[in-house]
Amino acid sequence: MWSLFMVVLPIVLGAQALRLYETLGVSKVLGPTTPDGCFLVDRENNDPAGSIILPVEDLVHYRSGILLGGAGGVLLGERFSPESRPLGYIVAVDARGGGGSGSGNGSDKDDGVEDNGDNNTPVVRKLKMSKFPADTHFLPHGIYYSKASERLYVVNHAGVSSVGTRVEVFDVTRNGDDLPELTWRLAVGGKDLFANMALNAVVEGQGDEIYVTQWQSTAVPAGGGMHPKSISEIVGRIVHLGQTFMMMPGNQGVYRCTFDSKSPSNPATSCRRESWGYMAANGITATPDLSRIYVADPVAHKIFSYARDPADGTLDYLSNETISTPHAPDNVHYDEETGELHTGTIPRIVEFADLHARASGTFQVFSQSKPGSRYDTVEQRVVHDASLLDEFSACMPLAGPNKRWSVCGSPIADGLLVCPAS
Ligand SMILES: *[C@@H]1O[C@H](CO)[C@@H](O)[C@H](O)[C@H]1NC(C)=O
Ligand SMILES: *[C@@H]1O[C@H](CO)[C@@H](O)[C@H](O)[C@H]1NC(C)=O
Repeated sequence: MWSLFMVVLPIVLGAQALRLYETLGVSKVLGPTTPDGCFLVDRENNDPAGSIILPVEDLVHYRSGILLGGAGGVLLGERFSPESRPLGYIVAVDARGGGGSGSGNGSDKDDGVEDNGDNNTPVVRKLKMSKFPADTHFLPHGIYYSKASERLYVVNHAGVSSVGTRVEVFDVTRNGDDLPELTWRLAVGGKDLFANMALNAVVEGQGDEIYVTQWQSTAVPAGGGMHPKSISEIVGRIVHLGQTFMMMPGNQGVYRCTFDSKSPSNPATSCRRESWGYMAANGITATPDLSRIYVADPVAHKIFSYARDPADGTLDYLSNETISTPHAPDNVHYDEETGELHTGTIPRIVEFADLHARASGTFQVFSQSKPGSRYDTVEQRVVHDASLLDEFSACMPLAGPNKRWSVCGSPIADGLLVCPAS
């Protein structure tokens, strides 16, 4: 019996080590990296004296020439607690250039914006959040803009000394040619519903319905993952990290939550687990008709596809549409115009796991040879060697009047990487 064990154990451990070696991308060599012409946009209004833009973990398309991003630096919040981070904010990445892109009062001529001539360099501007509760900390994680409801959903890790983790819901008011205005309406979740920092990304369903991913198997310690204090916090971190590095299904998955937007002070939220047991549940996106929901699992190197039942919002897993991805996908976004799926990736998780190394990234794009077919084509639109930005979590295309760009954000590094696109 014992000798059998001594034979089986090394085989099991060896197989696991090989699996981990593959998943971590230890031997992965990235092709030619960081295209010419890429640059970092890291100051508000592109003004050299402007404030530094905090790390933008997620980006969404708002309308032609404009992306919205959640700035804060969620990974440092996970390590050292949300309260250790400065107050986050929502930014607009504006590539429209020229007139009409002012940050509030329409005056665009003397605001220090450089290089808004032929080049139309994207400009990052902070958006005002009116009515946001004054005593609530703000560390944005996944965000989603819905054209149907004109709402912006933001996963917010406020920390245990504040309201905990919840989804903030803002009304987005279009403001002529100016940037939109955000008015806070209500929040879904908080300490009673979700463990500290448990959530990752969000997408709107039908009306007052959202799907949110849980990426932490156990609560992140109150003082951050690097500082577990109690026995239960230490055990919690061992369970979460052990599950992730053993590449086992864990207490991770997708919640479906409904709420009542007509009673913002008491939105009668109810959540249920819709699809559970991921190795890592990260980005989530939907087609505009809500026929499909896609969930990215970076450890499994997969994007899972679901059909949503319009009657009750249940998700039916479609194994025939699951996408295997060359590089670990983080945030994923469906592009309405092209039907593409856009992801920011961590090709070498080994760099991500090494807290002293910078991590490379790719802008990974999936397309279908015809609408409704499987995603059968993958392109690494930008391959970046970590020289300008440490780690990609979200990448999006952005079209200016006469130039197209790829824009990538990071959960840990200030500013946005902007690369010319053909
Ligand atoms: C409009 O913006 C300009 C440039 O930032 C500023 O100098 C001016 O005071 C603003 N005007 C109003 C009415 O806010
Ligand atoms: C996958 O299977 C589902 C359910 O059987 C089907 O409705 C769907 O069309 C299939 N997808 C593709 C791309 O064939």
